[in-house]
Amino acid sequence: MALSDILNSRYSVRAFKKDAVEPAQLQEIFSLAQQAPSNCNVQPWQTYVVSGARKDELKNRLIAEVMKQQPPAPDFDWKIAYQGIHRERQFGSANALYSSMGIERDDKMKRNMAMLRNWAFFDAPHVAFFTMDKYLGIMGAVDVGIYAQTLTLLLKERGIDSCMQGALGQFPDVVRSFLELPEERGILFGMSFGYADEDAAANKTRTDRADIGDAVCFL
Ligand SMILES: Cc1cc2nc3c(=O)[nH]c(=O)nc-3n(C[C@H](O)[C@H](O)[C@H](O)COP(=O)(O)O)c2cc1C
Repeated sequence: MALSDILNSRYSVRAFKKDAVEPAQLQEIFSLAQQAPSNCNVQPWQTYVVSGARKDELKNRLIAEVMKQQPPAPDFDWKIAYQGIHRERQFGSANALYSSMGIERDDKMKRNMAMLRNWAFFDAPHVAFFTMDKYLGIMGAVDVGIYAQTLTLLLKERGIDSCMQGALGQFPDVVRSFLELPEERGILFGMSFGYADEDAAANKTRTDRADIGDAVCFL
């Protein structure tokens, strides 16, 4: 599949079939993703792919944590309050998701249940956690973002769908303890991936993009 076709057809997938990706294919994809560029070639990403029974165990721990209803405590400055057009787009993406799922604007309970699906990894067979040393801050985050997008494109090239999830960085202590990571390692975000359940309502969600004139200036 040509890259342009991937970009025109991709969307964030939030419901998956049970089928796992073959281990050899995972090796191939994650090996290729190592080619992602990074500032001074520091390659700050330390990625953990969790599957099978261990993934289910991590899901249970995360859901138990979320159900405590404590505020998120991300390792990095993630809880930004969007303003102006950014806020409008944030609402637009949430509305696209909830309306495709048939959830009314003021149905808080159903919205919360839909949100909770993040920590169940949308029933995906695999979840990746993107971690890096905390001290790297924004420079590391830029590199890890580029790496993560490289991964999603490699996955999609092979018919494998994904959803990047800031939500998976909201309760990092649970993840750090499960993965037995040192305190100085931060959990930036995560990504569920597998094969899309194309009939699922959540997967009917589509978002739009600003015109090129609002985003790019050619001088
Ligand atoms: C860094 C990042 C974090 C995201 N976090 C979440 C998340 O926690 N939960 C979720 O359902 N979608 C999440 N998304 C998906 C975005 O909502 C989605 O990319 C955006 O609305 C555009 O829609 P599209 O990917 O379907 O084109 C995230 C995307 C990115 C790039």
